[in-house]
Amino acid sequence: MIEKSLVIIKPDGVERGLIGEILRRFENAGLKIIGMKMVWVDRKFAEEHYKAHRKKPFFRELVEFITEGPVVAFVAEGVHAVGNVRRLVGSTSPHEASPGTIRGDFAHMSMAYASKKGLGGKNLIHASGNKAEADAEVKLWFRKEEMHSYSTVHEKHVF
Ligand code: CDP
Ligand code: MG
Repeated sequence: MIEKSLVIIKPDGVERGLIGEILRRFENAGLKIIGMKMVWVDRKFAEEHYKAHRKKPFFRELVEFITEGPVVAFVAEGVHAVGNVRRLVGSTSPHEASPGTIRGDFAHMSMAYASKKGLGGKNLIHASGNKAEADAEVKLWFRKEEMHSYSTVHEKHVF
C-alpha cells in the first residue's frame, strides 16, 4: 500500500513562486519527499514523459509548455500515495478543480480556453495518474541513488 508518485511543479508554478506553497501541502498531508530536483527538460525528454499523449491534439503545445522553463520534480511516498497526491492536486482543468486543491486554489482557466489560445493547459502541476504510470515516471525521472530512505515524525502519527 506504500506507493511512490512522481510530482512535477510545472514552469508556471515555478515562475509564480509557488514551489514552497505546493510542497507544503504534500508535507502537511504526511507524504514523504524522498527525492527532489530542479530541471529544465528538453523536447526529447518531455516527449518521452508525455508519450501517452503523443496522438492528442494538444501534444505540441503541451511539450512547449513543459519545456518553457525549469520544473521542480519530486517523488512523494506514502500510503496510497498515487491517489492521495491526485486528490491534493485536483482535476486537470483548473476551472473544474475544487477549492482546497492546488489547481483549484491557484488557477481558474479551462483546457478549452487554453486550446482556443493555442497554448498548453497551464495547471501548475503534474502528478502520476495511476500506479503503473507512477512506476514508469519515477524510473524515468529519478535514478535509484537520487532517492533516499529515512524516517519522518509522521511515521509515528500519520502512517
Ligand atoms: O495532468 P493530468 O494527468 O491531470 O491530465 P492529462 O489528461 O494526463 O493531461 C496532461 C496535461 O496535458 C495536462 O495536465 C495539461 O497540462 C495538458 N492538457 C492540455 O493542454 N489540453 C487538454 N485538453 C488536456 C490536457
Ligand atoms: Mg496525466
